[in-house]
Amino acid sequence: MTPSHTPTPTSALQLTDSGRLRHFLTIEGLPRTVLEQILDTAESFASLGGPAVKKVPLLRGKTIVNLFFEASTRTRTTFELAAKRLSADVLNLNVGAAATVKGETLLDTLRNLEAMHTDMFVVRHADSGAAHFIARHAAPHVRVINAGDGRHAHPTQAMLDMFTIRREKGDFGRLCVAIVGDILHSRVARSQIQALRTLGAGCIRVVAPRTLLPAEVASLGVEAHVDLDEGLRDADVVIMLRLQRERMSGAFLPSEHEYFQQFGLTEARLRRARPDVIVMHPGPINRGVEIDSRVADGGRSVILRQVTYGIAVRMAVMSLALGPDAPGGAA
Ligand code: NCD
Repeated sequence: MTPSHTPTPTSALQLTDSGRLRHFLTIEGLPRTVLEQILDTAESFASLGGPAVKKVPLLRGKTIVNLFFEASTRTRTTFELAAKRLSADVLNLNVGAAATVKGETLLDTLRNLEAMHTDMFVVRHADSGAAHFIARHAAPHVRVINAGDGRHAHPTQAMLDMFTIRREKGDFGRLCVAIVGDILHSRVARSQIQALRTLGAGCIRVVAPRTLLPAEVASLGVEAHVDLDEGLRDADVVIMLRLQRERMSGAFLPSEHEYFQQFGLTEARLRRARPDVIVMHPGPINRGVEIDSRVADGGRSVILRQVTYGIAVRMAVMSLALGPDAPGGAA
């Protein structure tokens, strides 16, 4: 009973019969209306009290477990803050960063936590499909949110990125978005592409060395570029990705220095994009590898705003799945 490595689309698992969010495992297969509902709900939280979102009693009496089998700082802490601002009780469990957790162990962990009356699991795991596995085996009232599974999906990161783009740039239809870097190993890129397509982005580009583009890139519905200057041309939004060294098995790249020469975002290269371009990065950033410090800390960067918006977006997802009007939610 190990988690599946090729998860199937699970729209039926994610939505209730009436189209409400039950689990949030992947962007794939979710209708535009659901993504827009998440963005609109996040907007209401973000505008509650300026940058510091105020506390609301929506999930009072609910217990949320952050079940992290893989290291994380900003994702785990923003999930924790989001849960606290919804007045839920939160438990953080960091289960062995490098350990490969077998299906049975995962299921045993799940059963034990269910016995403590957990209402929601926020799951991060190195295996693709781990969150789906938990969602399939959890008790009917339990909700599951995927906080990153292997190379597969990271739907809340994608939604906080969409929130950032919508807030900073407006209508998706007019925008050209370039995603630059290690597309092959990135669960974030996969979820972002699905979200951008669903929300109707005008143009979506992926930019990477050939070795870091997935073989199925033609089927992703994006423009692929192996030249950074071309990929950046007239872009409204540039999303930089980290080189995911921990996921690379062979020699994908000559050296970090050479990578920076060819694919590192500098102020000079950013001039190819539109003058009002925004620069994003899900973090953690590797300065001098994929991005120059002057760009990361410069006026076009919205990297820290993404972190702040992440709280409101995670509040939105949690409250939609578990809130008062949700099936199985409080009356
Ligand atoms: C990403 C992740 O873990 O997938 N980071 C994040 O969630 N903020 C991207 C990464 O690790 O590079």
